[in-house]
Amino acid sequence: NFNPMMYQTNDKSPLQIFVRAKKKINDIYGEIEEYVLETTTFINALHADAEIVDKAERELFESYVFKVAAIREVLQRDHMKVAFFGRTSNGKSSVINAMLREKILPSGIGHTTNCFCQVEGSDGGEAYLMKEGSDEKLNVVNIKQLANALCQEKLCESSLVRIFWPRERCSLLRDDVVFVDSPGVDVSANLDDWIDNHCLNADVFVLVLNAESTMTRAEKQFFHTVSQKLSKPNIFILNNRWDASANEPEFQESELAKVKSQHTERCIDFLTKELKVSNEKEAAERVFFVSARETLQARIEESKGNPPHLGAIAEGFQIRYFEFQDFERKFEECISQSAVKTKFQQHSSRGKSVSGDMRSMLDNIYERITIFRNLKQDQKNLLTERIQGTETQMMQVTREMKMKIHNMVEEVEEKVSKALNE
Ligand code: GTP
Ligand code: MG
Repeated sequence: NFNPMMYQTNDKSPLQIFVRAKKKINDIYGEIEEYVLETTTFINALHADAEIVDKAERELFESYVFKVAAIREVLQRDHMKVAFFGRTSNGKSSVINAMLREKILPSGIGHTTNCFCQVEGSDGGEAYLMKEGSDEKLNVVNIKQLANALCQEKLCESSLVRIFWPRERCSLLRDDVVFVDSPGVDVSANLDDWIDNHCLNADVFVLVLNAESTMTRAEKQFFHTVSQKLSKPNIFILNNRWDASANEPEFQESELAKVKSQHTERCIDFLTKELKVSNEKEAAERVFFVSARETLQARIEESKGNPPHLGAIAEGFQIRYFEFQDFERKFEECISQSAVKTKFQQHSSRGKSVSGDMRSMLDNIYERITIFRNLKQDQKNLLTERIQGTETQMMQVTREMKMKIHNMVEEVEEKVSKALNE
């Protein structure tokens, strides 16, 4: 299913904001790690040679090595996370499949998804499952087997199954988007646990509604709790199954437009007046009328080299298909910007504070060496050539270190603010 076209067009994707920022910040941290290691070696040598640096200071420096290594590890795992919620059968799993361009998650009538399912990219072309609390990779040969494995599981509804799917099969997975599918909000009494366990680090939420009915109390309540626990969550609303509206025989164009504007108004009011998470303008760009099932069918046709409209379910396919793509575009913009801010801003300020601390420690050491040298000047005759040599070397290395760290701090600041602005 490898599609090189997808790769070519994808580089214009707004997701690249995140991809580029992640690469940059990883490179910067690689440099920081080098400096920290180099400085620590130098400090250790000072400690051994001249007792200029005491044990506590040496240990503090070594702690930076671990700190930086820990941040680097988190950074490498950073991703963009989107979580889907809504009532049973509204089409949450179908929306995710449409975005992945393949039927990966089981979907169907009745209560299908019975626990949280996270889909993320895997390297090396492997597809496998991992259940919560286990490191065992359960191989998935095909989609049917995956669906069976998920259905057979008697899992707690708030537990998590992670599905690793080859990155090269979908550009969103390649660019580090992680999808979280959930059971219907109407089937659980543990919504608080859901939010605590699966939502606090989500960058974007998608509320999948059924356009044939209206938003329910359970759906509203869920998002009220989300917005109490998170400040200004990014919420998109999909009025799904919009193809059904075209099949209503007694519906006139004008009536359809009326229903659409009614739904739109309700959704915008919900985001602006009830949840107060968006302003009018932003909210208007967060509400869409789509058909997930049709989009998935169209994309499957496309992957076979057929025209997408072969996947159409009802009249008006083009508009719905276009609206789904429009949703994806806005979603990509939103998630990459949000993830850069929430994930990298924190890392960059930690990086700045580590390098700032190191710089002031080196300033201190430099001062001490100067005093030490002045003292020793008076007893010059007692000094061996070796010590003189070491001093000069120390002065020089410390000066270099100071410069390097100074430059590094500025460089980090500059690169990070550039990445954030981009
Ligand atoms: P649960 O996992 O049970 O909570 O449901 P879900 O929200 O994941 O819904 P799912 O994706 O399983 O879809 C339910 C049924 O609706 C499936 O039979 C889908 O094929 C169908 N469906 C989903 N989206 C659409 C759509 O846009 N139009 C139409 N006509 N059917 C859809
Ligand atoms: Mg589902």
